Amino acid sequence: MSENFYQKATSEPSSSFDISLRPPVFSEFIGQEKVKERLLLMVEAAANRGDVLDHVLLSGPPGLGKTTLANIIARAAGTQLHTTSGPQIEKAGDLAGVLTNLQKGDVLFIDEIHRLHPAIEEYLYPAMEDYRLDIIIDSGPSARSIQLNLPRFTLVGATTRSGMLTAPLRSRFGLVNRLDYYSETELAQIIERSAGLLNIPVNPDGSLEIARRSRGTPRVANALLRWVRDYAEVRSDGTITGPIADAALAMIEIDSDGLDEMDKRLLEALIYKFSGGPVGLGSLAVAVGEDASTLEEVHEPFLILQGFLSRTPRGRVAQPAAYEKIGAPPPHGGQPTLL
Ligand SMILES: Nc1ncnc2c1ncn2[C@@H]1O[C@H](COP(=O)(O)OP(=O)(O)O)[C@@H](O)[C@H]1O
Ligand SMILES: [Mg+2]
Repeated sequence: MSENFYQKATSEPSSSFDISLRPPVFSEFIGQEKVKERLLLMVEAAANRGDVLDHVLLSGPPGLGKTTLANIIARAAGTQLHTTSGPQIEKAGDLAGVLTNLQKGDVLFIDEIHRLHPAIEEYLYPAMEDYRLDIIIDSGPSARSIQLNLPRFTLVGATTRSGMLTAPLRSRFGLVNRLDYYSETELAQIIERSAGLLNIPVNPDGSLEIARRSRGTPRVANALLRWVRDYAEVRSDGTITGPIADAALAMIEIDSDGLDEMDKRLLEALIYKFSGGPVGLGSLAVAVGEDASTLEEVHEPFLILQGFLSRTPRGRVAQPAAYEKIGAPPPHGGQPTLL
């Protein structure tokens, strides 16, 4: 199970477990202080003016709280949240359906907005700017364009790949926020909050041990907490202590840096099969038997953050820490080349 642990924890749609642990208000949302401060200010300003909120873009790796924030924003603004995603909107008609269903001030959350079809994106521009939708009905000689006036609404877009968003779309958001990985202290707080909600006894060493191995990601922290709880109940008295957390996480092969089997496999392939790189993402994906996009969105950002890997124009390159991690001698008996 360890092999897919992070992938499951970070790439699957929200489970009921996720939803039950989702902080409903800004004051319970831990960390991301700057983002929270900006959003709060925006909500307050709009409320004072009796205006609708400006459009907001949230970007960052999976599991950092984008969907959670969209829910919190809608609630703070006292409006209704409507949820859809880039791939779900296949035709202009789908978009028209979603937009015409909105009431004034509502929040439309489009997850994975970078996966919107380019043609659909074009329809979105006037909708975002002027609350207007120009759609073409029929085709050939009888084709005509009709214009629909939309209620003033707020678009909250979420993306794991802000680099893939087109410039025109990006520029139509009033506020662009990037979520960062969480610190261990913040993750420990999140774990304690979740443990409280689930009635799981956990001591500070226990929550810190889980936090350390959660790769900066609240969704992973909550998933690990659930596993450690099971372990503590079966192998001990149910209380999560440091040693219990450590033993539970060792059992699913999550190491003390939070690397899982796929991370290690990736580093091993990079070092042993490709001499440390540079190597293209596609070749690496084939070598480890994983989806290129999963490597790019889930595994790489964390490995880069931790200094195991770097991305260069010529491909992925192993850093000294990677050699150390998998116990391989550095190339040429010296420092690996830093590109
Ligand atoms: N700042 C936070 N404080 C507390 N819990 C959080 C926070 N961010 C995320 N979570 C938890 O992590 C889970 C995943 O967050 P989610 O919003 O679904 O991430 P994303 O949409 O970015 O993939 C949520 O269900 C919530 O329980
Ligand atoms: Mg989400």
